[in-house]
Amino acid sequence: MANSTATTAQSGPPSSVAGNVKPALMQLEEIELSFGGLTALNRVSLDIRSGEILGIIGPNGAGKTSLLNVINGVYRPQKGRILFQGQDRTNYRPHQVAAQGVARTFQNVGLFKGMTTLDNLLAGRKSFIHTNFFLQALYWGPALKTEVAQREKVEQIIDFLEIQAIRNTPVGTLPYGLQKRVELGRALAAEPKLLLLDEPMAGMNLEEKEDMSRFILDANEELGYTIALIEHDMGVVMDICDRIVVLDYGSKIAEGTPDEIRNNPDVIRAYLGTDEN
Ligand SMILES: Nc1ncnc2c1ncn2[C@@H]1O[C@H](COP(=O)(O)OP(=O)(O)OP(=O)(O)O)[C@@H](O)[C@H]1O
Ligand SMILES: [Mg+2]
Repeated sequence: MANSTATTAQSGPPSSVAGNVKPALMQLEEIELSFGGLTALNRVSLDIRSGEILGIIGPNGAGKTSLLNVINGVYRPQKGRILFQGQDRTNYRPHQVAAQGVARTFQNVGLFKGMTTLDNLLAGRKSFIHTNFFLQALYWGPALKTEVAQREKVEQIIDFLEIQAIRNTPVGTLPYGLQKRVELGRALAAEPKLLLLDEPMAGMNLEEKEDMSRFILDANEELGYTIALIEHDMGVVMDICDRIVVLDYGSKIAEGTPDEIRNNPDVIRAYLGTDEN
């Protein structure tokens, strides 16, 4: 859905009042994060807007993963505010952020490697399983209904991601590209309001990247997920993102549509000009 309603957000009015711009689902305000003397994030402000695919790019060590870790409560910023659906939740812990509807994948796959694809996806639905322990043990009424509902949802995801053939395979034995796909499935199983993807295409060949791009686009366009993703492959980022934020040495140096970012001299200098890609 690239280039749909995206506009430059560097100096415009707040997104909620700006014409055709979608409202902010998540707002980061002046986030500062440091480790000892090292500043990982330097007064970073950005919005993730409902329904968009936001790309977060920047050279190695720019602070991209740190930003996701701040968003999902793994790191606590020293300064700044985080709003989710307008509510301040700056100091939420990871389980609280997850309970609010934020799911993520990791730069290095974060699955249960000894478990099958199916069980990993079912694990992604654990927040939906609230039935009484005794009923579950006896496998009666509500427990059975819940179990059936979880399995149905997981089956939909298996179909969506076209991973029927590996449903009973322990994920640790799968090629890396498929592990990344299962990890996306586990995040989707949580039916999040916001999906955070840390380098979903890393280590993939061209065909696997094309597949993954399609699944991410479909998750956005067909299933309606709001997505923020970190990715080093410029072709992919420019192709699938509505807007892009660029970090360099912990600071946001640009924000805009793929075309604006492509032609931004600061970005070219800081990132596209390097021979990283
Ligand atoms: N837990 C930590 N302790 C100390 N320093 C950290 C920690 N996490 C990140 N950093 C530092 O913060 C800076 C930003 O790291 P981060 O992992 O966010 O970068 P990145 O943009 O994701 O890079 P890459 O593209 O290589 O994944 C780096 O200098 C990194 O060494
Ligand atoms: Mg990273």
